[in-house]
Amino acid sequence: MPHTCSSLNCTNRFTPETRTRGITFHRFPKDRVMRRKWEKAVRRGGFPSNRSTMLCSEHFRPEDFDRTGQTVRLRAGTVPVCCFKTPDNKAPRMSQTSQKAREPLPVEPPKVEPTPAPIPEPTVDHAYASTPNDLRIKLSEALARVDSLEREKRNARDRERRVRNTVSCLLEDLEVKKILNDELKERLDIYSDLPVHLLSKQSHQYTKEQKDFAVTLHFHGPKAYNYLRESLHINLPHPHTLQKWVSSGQAKPDLNQPTASLKEDASAKYLGGQAAVNENMELSQVNALPYEEFVNIFGNVVEKCPMVAAAVSSQRPFADVDALEAAICDFIDALSNSGKEGILRCHPDLAGRDLQAGTLTRESMSEQANVGFNTLGIEDAYTMSCLNEEYKERFGFPFIICTRMSDKARILQEMRNRVTKGLTEERELAIEEVKKICRLRVRDLVHADAAAQV
Ligand code: GUN
Repeated sequence: MPHTCSSLNCTNRFTPETRTRGITFHRFPKDRVMRRKWEKAVRRGGFPSNRSTMLCSEHFRPEDFDRTGQTVRLRAGTVPVCCFKTPDNKAPRMSQTSQKAREPLPVEPPKVEPTPAPIPEPTVDHAYASTPNDLRIKLSEALARVDSLEREKRNARDRERRVRNTVSCLLEDLEVKKILNDELKERLDIYSDLPVHLLSKQSHQYTKEQKDFAVTLHFHGPKAYNYLRESLHINLPHPHTLQKWVSSGQAKPDLNQPTASLKEDASAKYLGGQAAVNENMELSQVNALPYEEFVNIFGNVVEKCPMVAAAVSSQRPFADVDALEAAICDFIDALSNSGKEGILRCHPDLAGRDLQAGTLTRESMSEQANVGFNTLGIEDAYTMSCLNEEYKERFGFPFIICTRMSDKARILQEMRNRVTKGLTEERELAIEEVKKICRLRVRDLVHADAAAQV
């Protein structure tokens, strides 16, 4: 129930309507002495005020208000002006507008009209405006209302501007952090008829459609998924639940047609690539290669880091393959931690998006196919995707392991184990794996027993 002004005969109630008329409400002071003074001013014999007793702004002088902040406050020590009955049974109005309303109208000399137009009788509706004084009061109240509505409108506009700003910053943030990329947008288009708000649970259980949607969304964009779930509080289940659904067959991510056919393309590329990989050469040839060719051929022994080959090129001639490998490993070891992490970040995810899209390097494709990552079932693919994300989230670079010296089960086990390590230890472990991968890649290019011909 809204509060009512406690002044006798004042009918102002603490409602949005009175607020729009510019009327404010003020609680009785906590201080005992001041409270007595207010009670006296109210002049209601033995009037007991309590914590929710209020007086409206009509019972104070304009100078009693501090209007500098967002809330209209009474200045310290303010006592209401006597609240007494007027002859017309109304409390005297003290607000600025009411006071203005009481000011006399400017007196104008009466105009002499030749034939005065008949003044229409006030209708019942307009009877309230029967005296000039009433009219003035109503007019000033209406003006005060206009003022207050304009203020509301300005505030609403400001609120809208702030919300717009927030939204555009959010979108920018999503783009910059690559949470919302074109590929994800495109994939989510399939679900354009299934808006995320449908995920609001109608019952205790998600529908099959909702489960598939959530699993697919997570599969294609774990970061976006977590963002929607944690920051926008969209009702999406925890990724652990998704994993349970997938392993129990309750849900499956939609890997959709184009991706599957790309997988076949990728396999074809891999098979075609083997021949090239098998064409290895004598060390004397390696030592004799022009710089550009050396970098071309050995540029990917460390995944997508041709600068490693460029750096060791000047150390030729190498006495044997071991010497070439040692030069590469020394170069990597001499890098700063951020340099090493840079190398790690050049690696694609295992069983990740590049594999699906067929955009892996020939070497990486071969290594991933070696452990069957190009033919993973949905459940394994999903588990890999979750582990990859967890790992990258923790360390900022992808999980790397020399797949040719392992198998699918051991790789999964290693992922689970290494994701718990500290950054320093894990960085070194990952770099050791890069070196193992590198040695095998070098040996794909140069005869293992090759020694420089003297
Ligand atoms: N292990 C062997 N090759 C690769 C690769 O290309 N990426 C990752 N992350 N690990 C590998």
